[in-house]
Amino acid sequence: MRIWCYLTHYTHSQQKESCVHLFSLFRVAVTGWLLLCLTSASAVMAGTSNSLMDISTDGTLLVCSNRDNGSISVIDLARLQKSREFNVGHLPEGVSFIGDTHTVAVAVYGEDRIVFVDADQGQQLGNVDVFDEPYGVVSNRSGSHVYVTLDYPGQVVEIDAETRQIDRTFNAGTFARGIAIAEDARRLYVTNYFTAQLLAIDLETGDQVDEWTGTSYDNLCRQVVLNPHREKAYLPHLQSRTTFAHAASSIFPYVAVVNTSEVTERRRRRIKMDSFNGAQVTSNPWEIAVSPDGRRLYVVFSGTNDMYVSNVLDDDYWEIEFERHERLGHNPRAIRVAPDSQTIYVYNALDFHVVAYDAETIEPIATIDVCENPLSDEVLTGKRLFYSALQPMSGRHWISCSSCHPDGDPDGRTWQNPEGLRNTQALFGMAWTHPIHWSADRDEVQDFEHTIRGDLMQGRGLIKGEVHPSLEEPNLGLSASLDALAAYSNTHEFTLSPHAKDGLSDTAERGRELFFSEETKCATCHGGPFFTDSTTGQLHDVGTGTADQSEKMAPAYDTPTLLGVYRTAPYLHHGMAVTLEDVLTTQNPNDLHGKTSHLSVDEINDLVAFLKSLPYKNPQVAAEAAGLLRVEP
Ligand code: HEC
Ligand code: HEC
Repeated sequence: MRIWCYLTHYTHSQQKESCVHLFSLFRVAVTGWLLLCLTSASAVMAGTSNSLMDISTDGTLLVCSNRDNGSISVIDLARLQKSREFNVGHLPEGVSFIGDTHTVAVAVYGEDRIVFVDADQGQQLGNVDVFDEPYGVVSNRSGSHVYVTLDYPGQVVEIDAETRQIDRTFNAGTFARGIAIAEDARRLYVTNYFTAQLLAIDLETGDQVDEWTGTSYDNLCRQVVLNPHREKAYLPHLQSRTTFAHAASSIFPYVAVVNTSEVTERRRRRIKMDSFNGAQVTSNPWEIAVSPDGRRLYVVFSGTNDMYVSNVLDDDYWEIEFERHERLGHNPRAIRVAPDSQTIYVYNALDFHVVAYDAETIEPIATIDVCENPLSDEVLTGKRLFYSALQPMSGRHWISCSSCHPDGDPDGRTWQNPEGLRNTQALFGMAWTHPIHWSADRDEVQDFEHTIRGDLMQGRGLIKGEVHPSLEEPNLGLSASLDALAAYSNTHEFTLSPHAKDGLSDTAERGRELFFSEETKCATCHGGPFFTDSTTGQLHDVGTGTADQSEKMAPAYDTPTLLGVYRTAPYLHHGMAVTLEDVLTTQNPNDLHGKTSHLSVDEINDLVAFLKSLPYKNPQVAAEAAGLLRVEP
């Protein structure tokens, strides 16, 4: 009976119930039996997965990328000490040892480059330029090739590790971040950042051959990890429920479990992490690790600074079972397990150290400093607060500023706020484009004290005592922590558009003329180095205020900067323009938003090509030359 249920995958609901019941009764026995079989067999399905840390296959070296410091560090695992640190460039993300070697490939996100480093000799071996935003890196087992996700535009590049040339480029949805390669090197698994969708790419043909979609609320998935013994993949991600403007139901942490085998049932399920042990609320899962023996799964939470340790079950139903909860340092972003499964390593990004733990007892064995803190004390304080879902930022531990603005990026979502629909803005260049918000109702980041204390975050707040209810009253200078939060928020700078690496294309050049023409009038509002007149304090009615019934602040809005719009869809305060074309066509029926109705399809394309090329030069240089002021908290 038991076996029959198991084999037929519960075809009827009644059988399903009794199976579930039986499963809970016999789970332990089944698990023990399967584990016994699996651990005695060789690791047939082991593959590698992207991470901000990696351990060499011989278990002697660990490498981590130090995003804030523009470097990678190599740790000698016998001595548990840092042996080297290399500068690799702006914003390094994924790192991977190549095959069984001590050569490391690191994705330098901010410089669109993969850098190859010899970890023993301390030598940079070469690098490969890619189109934009390299994020996750894995190598195949033999070490012949390295595979890298490009967040924008959503691709994977295959790099020959010997010649350091790009062999092939695969389409991989939109905003590709997580990547894993199967042991047999037949398939790549790739996650899409803003949907948590998992795609499978066949490495022979380069075609997408499968996909596993979650719910429409799934968001911010940076990683996919393969189980070394079973056909399962695990994805850490958020759920952003945009219809609720309070902490209790807006943001949740999840681990998705995907069945990567050919079977059609139970292909993807999700496990809610905050109620996992019924006691602890966690937030912002960043990475997962599965121990090489396949017994344990670890999740680190960057918002609540903690970790879940769970046992992997071989039941195809519960998947994992809570074992323990552990406090970590500030902003843990990476976790890896040694090849013998005996030691685990956690990267606390805002402590700039790696902590080694005994996997059996979860006792810390060593704390290894990986780099200097490159941030000022004030920015470090502000950054820790921005990433924190603990008090005084957040009352119920579900949500932090970074849940919606990870690393200054938007979350690709439009939220139902009390004042109406509001598309999350990027924080890039914000120091130059105050006032802030679509409605320009906030003149300083210190006003986010209201967000911290409001329904959304329900935190105690950073100002001692009451906060003035009016947004006009300055909050600057009332709390060193609040000023620090503002200082950090104002650090985000623009990167140049990948669409204009060799200057403006002919199409974009034609678009530029249209943009600055008398007729379209675009530049009358989107003027100056940041393509906005925001600092004048003027709001404009561009005909967008009537589409949303819940809108309370219509009809005029602050002119948004156009720098970086190539990667911030959807558009407009209400997020109703899916593409830039929509902004200029379907969302501008009466020519209230510049004049566009006279433009031909080709001319709209030209204008869009120009918008996608912004910024094509560093706006700060022009801003400083023009004597514009940057907000200094
Ligand atoms: C639930 C998601 C969410 C959370 C949490 C969140 N924000 Fe936002 N943020 C948004 C949205 C949506 C907007 C646009 C709102 C508007 O314009 O009215 C926004 C706008 C902003 C802006 C304005 C950017 C600009 O260029 O005008 C800043 C600054 C900002 N948020 C900072 C913060 C800080 C600091 C925190 C934490 C205290 C925070 N946010 C928490 C979603 C969020
Ligand atoms: C009268 C001032 C004004 C003019 C003229 C104007 N804009 Fe805008 N633009 C705005 C405002 C205000 C918004 C925000 C409207 C909203 O969110 O509802 C906006 C939004 C946008 C956006 C969306 C940006 C985002 O991040 O979502 C784009 C793209 C844009 N404008 C391009 C243009 C182009 C191209 C032209 C010329 C055809 C133009 N604008 C003319 C004021 C103007």
